[in-house]
Amino acid sequence: MRREEHELLSGLAPGTPMGDLLRRYWTAAVLSRELEADGAPVRVTLLGEDLVAFRDSKGRVGLLDEHCAHRGASLYFGKNMNGGLSCWYHGWKYDVDGKCLDQPNEPPQTRFCDRVKHTAYPCIERNGVVWTYMGPPDKKPEMPALEWLTVPESHVFVSKRLQQCNWLQGMDGDIDGCHLGFLHGHVIEQVPDLNQFRSAKWLIRDLYPVFDPVTIPSGILLSTRRNAAEDTHYYRVNQWFLPGYTTIPLPGDGPQAGHSWVPRDRGQSWVFTFSWHPSRPLTDAERADFEEGKSAVHAELIPGTFVPSHNKANDYADPDAPPANQPWMRIKNFQDQDMSITESMGGLYDRTRESLGSTDKVLIQTRRRLMAAARSVQEGQDPPGLDPDSFRFRPYSAELPRSVTDWREAVGDAIETRPETYRNSV
Ligand code: FES
Ligand SMILES: [Fe+2]
Repeated sequence: MRREEHELLSGLAPGTPMGDLLRRYWTAAVLSRELEADGAPVRVTLLGEDLVAFRDSKGRVGLLDEHCAHRGASLYFGKNMNGGLSCWYHGWKYDVDGKCLDQPNEPPQTRFCDRVKHTAYPCIERNGVVWTYMGPPDKKPEMPALEWLTVPESHVFVSKRLQQCNWLQGMDGDIDGCHLGFLHGHVIEQVPDLNQFRSAKWLIRDLYPVFDPVTIPSGILLSTRRNAAEDTHYYRVNQWFLPGYTTIPLPGDGPQAGHSWVPRDRGQSWVFTFSWHPSRPLTDAERADFEEGKSAVHAELIPGTFVPSHNKANDYADPDAPPANQPWMRIKNFQDQDMSITESMGGLYDRTRESLGSTDKVLIQTRRRLMAAARSVQEGQDPPGLDPDSFRFRPYSAELPRSVTDWREAVGDAIETRPETYRNSV
């Protein structure tokens, strides 16, 4: 990758191509459960901007520039009560729209309050997440009709964690269908009965999968095909959606999974992980596993933080793992394996130093799509992926006869997000 392409992809600030592109979509900001009416404000950095989220007395959510419009004191120390957030320093008070409601240190006749507009981004709450739009107000799109946002809230669990690397560097792993047999291979090999769990067997036996990406307006439908039984192929179909959504096909007919990769700054990202079932509420047992970080996709967190318990400071080691003489042997959870390896590159790896091979072709496509979209915004055009209906796909995996030549035809409508089309055969 050329230096200027690396810099373009790494940009976040307003006025940079990627910064402007990312501000044309909705962004997952915080979890709804982080905010209580008249409770503590929450600091959150998004796209390199320091912000404060709060829930006012009426339950409405505001997302404001962290630094007070007066002289920059942090609104994290503000008083959240009586319908707004008041700066602790001199009492300037803001509502969820950034309107200045009060300036108790100014004589009333100055009416200075009317001339102050604090930066505030509009928010929507949906299925456990506060979403915000940080772009030009007249360009605000509808929310994408991702399945985890359109099913009832009872069907969804969402968690959040802080990842110590660039959002694209982390997201690359979800697009890289080739790594499964390597990075996750030693855990898959330990599955007690691989004949019962057939798909796992195919993942570790065929290390040269065939990728067949299909371009759609909102992103890519990606089929990864592996040799399975003598007369079958094992297909995994997942999606990448603009700008930072991925889906993960999980075997069986249980909940599926997806990520929203949100840039915190150039070297850190917020990872929102969604587990959802397309056609039924999650069970209490499923929810408990997700909450405790026992599933393959939700991290166990240090209590009171969004920092995973297994992290760089402890070599991501599972404390329950048997003693082992090499670090990788002690990293047992799929999610920890993905996080450890993408963080191991450093916060922002210099992409000019990569040597991309044939199995990186889908990753190359996503980067090209992002760069083209960013350039189109700079030229005054709308980016792709603003039509909410273009997100109506879900992940899928299945063993299909080798005679199948067109996977989309064979998969049929199973990847289209109507509840009645949900079927997962492996
Ligand atoms: S700095 Fe916030 S009111 Fe003065
Ligand atoms: Fe992985």
